Amino acid sequence: MAFILQPLPYAYDALEPYMSEKTLGFHHDKHHATYVATLNTLVKETEFANKSLEEIVLATYNEASKTSIFNNAAQVWNHTFFWNCMKPNGGGQPSGILAEKLNHSFGSFDRFATEFKSAGATQFGSGYVWLVLDQDQLKVVITGNATNPLVNQQIPLLTCDVWEHAYYLDYQNRRSDFLQSFLQHLVNWEFVIQQLQMHQLAHA
Ligand SMILES: [Fe+2]
Repeated sequence: MAFILQPLPYAYDALEPYMSEKTLGFHHDKHHATYVATLNTLVKETEFANKSLEEIVLATYNEASKTSIFNNAAQVWNHTFFWNCMKPNGGGQPSGILAEKLNHSFGSFDRFATEFKSAGATQFGSGYVWLVLDQDQLKVVITGNATNPLVNQQIPLLTCDVWEHAYYLDYQNRRSDFLQSFLQHLVNWEFVIQQLQMHQLAHA
């Protein structure tokens, strides 16, 4: 079964003006689509053809002969996750259980936001900044290129893609401004809470 390009969960212009229709169109229809097409070519008639994306990511991580498969599988997973982490009129602060956990792990929402923005801004080159659940702690982590926290046994809750293709048309070199807009106007906290709850239910 070939992997498919998941459609965006909102319209191309739904995140304007914080992420333009042009950025989202290129990012989903060119970058994400290419990772899906390349992955399908690479895994065709191999042991990975009928595996899930997560299984492929975990099985190919740090395997020198399988770097291309890892990169494309992880990028397909990362992009679908990233789209779900945003929504129109998103951002601001979460409430309930997530607010409590952020306070517990970081001291306050503002301290979490500062750490998330600073980590994303200092990730050298391409990569992602994440909020993850590691054991019972929330942590901010960064990963380079296609790598994601699944390979470190961490549960991804939120990510922002900080590859230049994610923001350059809208913010040029101002990655910090993009991260600020992402937290203030785009984050889909309901999705983040859902990730946390799914994990807690699975381990109840
Ligand atoms: Fe991307």
